[in-house]
Amino acid sequence: MADMSVKICGVDFKNPIIPASGVFGYGREYEELFPLQRLGGIATKGTTLHKRTGNPAPRIAETPSGMLNSVGLQNPGIDYFIENELPNLLEKETVILANFAGSTVDECVEVARRLDETDVHMLELNISCPNVKQGGAAFGTSCDMAAEVTAQVRRVTSKPLVVKLSPNVTSITDIAKAVEAAGADAISLINTLLGMRIDVNTRRPVLRNNVGGMSGAAVFPIAVRMVWQTANAVKIPVIGMGGVSSGRDAIEMMMAGAQAVQVGAAIFTDPYAPVRIIDEMNEFLDSKGIKDVKEIIGAVKPW
Ligand code: SIN
Repeated sequence: MADMSVKICGVDFKNPIIPASGVFGYGREYEELFPLQRLGGIATKGTTLHKRTGNPAPRIAETPSGMLNSVGLQNPGIDYFIENELPNLLEKETVILANFAGSTVDECVEVARRLDETDVHMLELNISCPNVKQGGAAFGTSCDMAAEVTAQVRRVTSKPLVVKLSPNVTSITDIAKAVEAAGADAISLINTLLGMRIDVNTRRPVLRNNVGGMSGAAVFPIAVRMVWQTANAVKIPVIGMGGVSSGRDAIEMMMAGAQAVQVGAAIFTDPYAPVRIIDEMNEFLDSKGIKDVKEIIGAVKPW
């Protein structure tokens, strides 16, 4: 068996596989299926300062090899998360990345300040949610706003700060460089691609919010391309995600330059996907005689 460990921003991961924010809740439903200790880490459902009920339904739609969501950052708020969910997660012997967002810069800063006082291992600042009117992608699609919110959050936390980027931009590398310069310790990408479906009988958009974020296997090549471009543009670590469904996909994402890989929509069709992917990665590495997963990071040989 290969050494599957990776170290990102000084934090040790036993393997590079992390269920992505929003598909794994706080792990409670999944710990009945497999020990959460098997995971490299867990990115928790995005937390905001106050409880949010999210967008009206329908807010999920299937698409060919993918899905659309317009959840709208439904969550119980930072105080509930810290008091009721984080203690259980911190017992799981895996890295906890607390994903958080805000409608304003001040809200992001306040959530980060409260998380900084906890034992959570890393913060993942979401500046890329396409389903909210304020904050979210409004922060992540402008270099100036992305840098501003990153810099303000940086001031209130000494924990490793990962900034999660939107693919709905003209230049992913410009945004990545802006958040790196503003103090991000790592970058995660891609969040969902903005999409839309229409019911041709009712002439209504399928989602009540009209548009939503697309994820799933169909977006994988876009994610690999953006991870590759970003990893070549910044010096800080990159955590890749977007349509990863198999161990082979995770290896490909790491060859593009990702130091770890988040698994999202695949978990909805196979709740065991993260542990299956870890096993499949191991099988691939063994079959190639590769002794250390770190050997494949950025190993792509571009033509
Ligand atoms: C949502 O809650 O709307 C999804 C989160 C995201 O896309 O960042």
